Amino acid sequence: MKNTVLTFKEMKESGEKISMLTCYDYSTARLMDGNIDGILVGDSLGNTMMGYGDTLPVTIDDMITYGGSVVRGCQKTFVVIDMPFMSYQLSVEQGLENAGRLMKEARCQAVKLEGGARVCPQIKAMTDAGIPVMAHLGLTPQSVNAFGGNKVQGKSEEAARILLEDAYKVQEAGAFSVVLECVPEQLATLISEKLTIPTIGIGGGNGCDGQILVYQDMLGMFDDFKPKFVQHFAKIGEEMTRAFQAYNAAVKDKSFPDDDHSFHMKDPDSLKRLY
Ligand code: KIV
Repeated sequence: MKNTVLTFKEMKESGEKISMLTCYDYSTARLMDGNIDGILVGDSLGNTMMGYGDTLPVTIDDMITYGGSVVRGCQKTFVVIDMPFMSYQLSVEQGLENAGRLMKEARCQAVKLEGGARVCPQIKAMTDAGIPVMAHLGLTPQSVNAFGGNKVQGKSEEAARILLEDAYKVQEAGAFSVVLECVPEQLATLISEKLTIPTIGIGGGNGCDGQILVYQDMLGMFDDFKPKFVQHFAKIGEEMTRAFQAYNAAVKDKSFPDDDHSFHMKDPDSLKRLY
């Protein structure tokens, strides 16, 4: 049975932590399916898959293409797709139409959008239309220019109060869950205790109801930069590099492909008649 919004609700109520990772393609989704509770097709694909410096250039069509491939790889794991920059900020109607496209064309189970009070009308309209919404507070990467960089949010009393109020507001508007990104652990824990919907932390410490990481980060696929909240659970980048080098060497020294990896004629002598 596929996980649903109810699975998330029950896990919060029972105290079982919710595990989520980002994912952007079918093959990786197949490997994750059934091994974690939820997948987010994050607009972080702008960085990880498309090589942009931030998430701003990502379009709704990009999210449908990548998101659909992930959905097709999942039988059990719950799939949420991110709404990219400027796909919901213009109006409630714009947000509803694009959330509808993600549900109809990519066939995800929920959408995610960034922001607190200012996007509550969008959250309410989507929820009323039967589209589950995951909210996202704290460091919201689509606002990187307004923040002046990727900075921890909610460190002062005033900033913490606004964040807590935003968390209440998105819950009130109908969000089924909320991501807390780069928020001090004490504040994220307080929000998690106060809300009835599950909080999913990324750089929010251990008191959140669940955790999410970008999968290339946790697999150790890049080591140019490691945010403080990232833990490497494997060294896949090193293993991939080793395999690429081994393949390169095998092609050049002609040990690949060997006989076992080649096709053969039924009657090799028949080739002589082709001359
Ligand atoms: O786009 C993304 O990957 C995200 C997660 C980091 C929460 O929003």
